Amino acid sequence: MSKTFQNISGTFDILPDAFNADGTVIESSASWHFVEERIREVMAHYRYLEIRTPVFEPTELIARGVGELTDIVSKELFSFERGDTHYVLRPELTAPAIRAYLQHHLAQKGGVQKLFYMGPCFRAEKPQKGRYRQFHQFGVEVIGASDARADAETVAVMMQIYASFGLKDLVLKINSLGDEQTRPAFKNALQEYFEPLASELSDTSRRRLKTNPLRILDTKVEREQELVKGAPRLIDYIDDASREHYEAVKGHLSDLEISYTEDPFLVRGLDYYTRTAYELDSPHLGAQSTLAGGGRYDLLAQELGSSEAIPAVGFAAGLERLFLALAGEGVKLPDAVKTDVYIVAQGEAAEKWAFKTANEWRSSGLHVAFDLQGRSMKAQMRDANRHGASKVVIVGEDELTSGKAIVREMETGDQETVPLHDLLDRLRDVVR
Ligand code: HAM
Repeated sequence: MSKTFQNISGTFDILPDAFNADGTVIESSASWHFVEERIREVMAHYRYLEIRTPVFEPTELIARGVGELTDIVSKELFSFERGDTHYVLRPELTAPAIRAYLQHHLAQKGGVQKLFYMGPCFRAEKPQKGRYRQFHQFGVEVIGASDARADAETVAVMMQIYASFGLKDLVLKINSLGDEQTRPAFKNALQEYFEPLASELSDTSRRRLKTNPLRILDTKVEREQELVKGAPRLIDYIDDASREHYEAVKGHLSDLEISYTEDPFLVRGLDYYTRTAYELDSPHLGAQSTLAGGGRYDLLAQELGSSEAIPAVGFAAGLERLFLALAGEGVKLPDAVKTDVYIVAQGEAAEKWAFKTANEWRSSGLHVAFDLQGRSMKAQMRDANRHGASKVVIVGEDELTSGKAIVREMETGDQETVPLHDLLDRLRDVVR
């Protein structure tokens, strides 16, 4: 037997029917459509317009944008090269969005750009429930606004998306990371605090103590979480303007009746944040408890070559984690494409009629299925059931000769005989 192939671990296929991969359910393509459409609707209400960028970008853009020392850049990039150029599959969409904003001079269009995106991202993480190597993000970026209302609006659109699916078990955590001076000062304070405790830290944290001590704060090791409780708090190191901004963001969230918890230890895994940082958690995700995360990144545009500072704020969320939360809260999603009519045909002439008629009805707006294998009437009826057809039209040689067909109402089992030339009107009526 010749070799067959499998998708790469940490990636998955989305199929017409839901299936189980490594204990995780991957929803049907119809469920994905439904969820994506709902997200697009909410984005439209908030007037966010879609941006689509390539799935691969120059390595330097991502390294500079996301930060050399982050886990993402230091060990999770899928990279390749052609000639002298180095590329990566995009691990996120904020740096690409800012690249596009600068490249296409979107600032010259005037006002604030409110962009949304939805698409695959790639990180070479250890695959587990809720964590994949190819996953799908949706998110927004508000570019050109320093006002605290912009921060609050990105949170509002995020919350509205989850609320629109009926999700309730959500925990919004917020913090402020201050300006560009805050982090170095806080980093020093953390190093001073943790150095005498180094022998109690894990190897990973001890390494981070030298390079990126902020990351120790989101340790998953229980013993270290105890030590973190006594660590200096970022909020005590932030500048006055950032503190004011933070107060304003909290005020706007309260105006919108969005509840939040302040988390003084919330630091994000990407380097570009200044001021506001936030995350949305769900208890239904297991170890990967974060549904979405975001914040303000006023210095990124300059980092990517802009001659002036461009204030910006946004969030991104994983679609796979949204599905996990929906399953966890028992929210049912439509998972099939509807079939209005299934034509059951018996005999060569009837099959020919079905083939031609199905095409006509489809172009008139009906969702029509029929059998392509010349199976028995019984098998075709079973197939009609499997399709979840609302109506079945039954034709054989006799019906064709008499110019009539049987229309069967699948829910009630009621049947009636209808002239062939009245069928379309009759079916349209019923479907409406
Ligand atoms: P992030 O926290 O790295 O932020 O990712 C955002 C979300 O993407 C996570 O909360 C999670 O739902 C999903 N996600 C990340 N990695 C994986 C993975 N390996 N498997 C499944 N889902 C994953 C960012 O990417 C920032 N660009 C967010 C942002 C936008 N900040 C400002 N604007």
